[in-house]
Amino acid sequence: MSEKSQTNEALQSASARDRRVLELCEQVLEIEQRLIPTGLHVFGRVAEEAANVDMLRMVASFDRPESGARALPDLVAEGLGFGPYAQLLEASKQSVLRLKERERVDEVVQAAIELFVNAREEASCTWLEETARVKREESRPIFSLLSKILEQLSENQELESLSRALRGEYIESGPGADIVQNPEILPTGRNTHAVNPYTVPSEIAYARAEGTVNRLLERHLREHGRYPNAMALVLWGLDNIKTQGEGVAQALWLLGVRPSRDAMNRATNIEVIPLERLRRPRIDVVMTVSGIFRDLFGATMNLLDKAVRAVALLDEPLEMNYVRRNIEEQMRADACAFDEAALRVFSNAPGNYGTNVNFMVMDSQWEQDSALGDLFVTRKCFAYGRDAKGNAVEGREARRAMERALTRVEAAYQNIDTFEIGITDVDHYFEYLGGISKAVEKRARVRPAIYLSDSLSADHKIRSLEETVRLETRAKTLNPKWYEGMLKHGFRGVAEIENHISNTFGWSATADAVEDWVYTEVAKTFVLDEEMLDRLRNLNPHSARSLVGRLLEAQGRGFWKADANVLEKLREIFAGLEDQLEGIV
Ligand code: BEZ
Ligand code: MG
Repeated sequence: MSEKSQTNEALQSASARDRRVLELCEQVLEIEQRLIPTGLHVFGRVAEEAANVDMLRMVASFDRPESGARALPDLVAEGLGFGPYAQLLEASKQSVLRLKERERVDEVVQAAIELFVNAREEASCTWLEETARVKREESRPIFSLLSKILEQLSENQELESLSRALRGEYIESGPGADIVQNPEILPTGRNTHAVNPYTVPSEIAYARAEGTVNRLLERHLREHGRYPNAMALVLWGLDNIKTQGEGVAQALWLLGVRPSRDAMNRATNIEVIPLERLRRPRIDVVMTVSGIFRDLFGATMNLLDKAVRAVALLDEPLEMNYVRRNIEEQMRADACAFDEAALRVFSNAPGNYGTNVNFMVMDSQWEQDSALGDLFVTRKCFAYGRDAKGNAVEGREARRAMERALTRVEAAYQNIDTFEIGITDVDHYFEYLGGISKAVEKRARVRPAIYLSDSLSADHKIRSLEETVRLETRAKTLNPKWYEGMLKHGFRGVAEIENHISNTFGWSATADAVEDWVYTEVAKTFVLDEEMLDRLRNLNPHSARSLVGRLLEAQGRGFWKADANVLEKLREIFAGLEDQLEGIV
């Protein structure tokens, strides 16, 4: 080998190594910066101020035009001469120098918020001017907003409001969201009002959804070599209230349409985005909406249904319009009418809620793998929208139409709208996104790619389900900051830890998305560590037993290849816990 090519090779492997190190660094930062709840909200009680630092930092990370405030990371990055923060974020994935600059910005932002919590507005503005050349006129609006938030957080009218409500008195109303999305939700303890479905999706939600859908489709194309023929989407009510319809807007973007408003400014119609502007095929979407969504967003279900029908009738090449291609194919194969083949909005039967997949998993009531997906379809195969004559289809059972639509699905997706609740905090994510993925797996004969978006991240992050499970496990379940926060709540805290592990198990059951190390580390942290096991057992022996039982079930069902000695130890501990509960020891 020539000297030159040897040098080239060395340089190449050095730069490959640098890239890998930067990638790892990015992943570690992601875990570190993930906002996690460190304990439960206690009704009627005010949280300690120090516990608010991370949340205030998140509030300050976004532009707040309604308060005339710019995002603090932008102000600091510009003050330090590093340019806009979003560019720095992107560049820091490629360059060590830019990564150092980003870390400097993050440190300054963090320190400014801590100073604010300890010494308030003036002190932070002065310090930022001295340290990062941020003019006080520029930083004052964001700190004024944070001052208002802190003040509102320091009083809590929840108990008072509850007793007033019980006396039948009037309770002031307030919007529903989380604090980062909309600080106007404070003070809590008000009568949460929802949204006018005719305003959904808002302009902002529609604009944000474009970036998310682009990233999603780019990722799928990169990893699978083509666009998904059809996607299964999960739409929830509370999510779309909080984001003013980001999930709905994402469905519209996949189809390649925009909402249009009537004379009363209601989003009742759609406008087609020309293919030349879209520059990609229109993706077919099968939408399963929750019972809450169905109850709140009747007008929106009609809008989505209308969008599918309009796109299916466009005179466009089939390879650029998957909706038309799939519907025509189905009409031919099944000799069915357009109205039947075009059904794409599904929910529960009227008056029914939920998929029950979570109950089947939690109660270990399934044998065949496919039972979970079949249950999902049984619960969710009721169609909504309008037929060609304009008559409402309000929850007619349409199992065959739904199953046929699912056979073409190549990717499943749900928008995550909040930092407060993640995919292992509650059993609803796996019952919906896991449930539909399992239903697709049997009907399409292949497991779909499964994605989630983080609509709160500045760069519309798209993660695979596996990546999200890993992130949640590291940022929460195995993070002492998280579980110690839970353990402060005693009995309830242990139940929360056990819930997390059972919800993680739900992702094995529905989507095989949990790697062995997750269960191995859970066993080490909560069961094989004697001191920890004693704490759990003393605080809540029922949940401690369920936790160990769940690990044994994961092994028994083939979700976890556990070491034989670990398994034996778990069995022994399980038997001990049973004896303790039965009062034998
Ligand atoms: C919803 O907002 O639609 C929803 C909330 C919790 C569970 C399922 C659905
Ligand atoms: Mg496995």
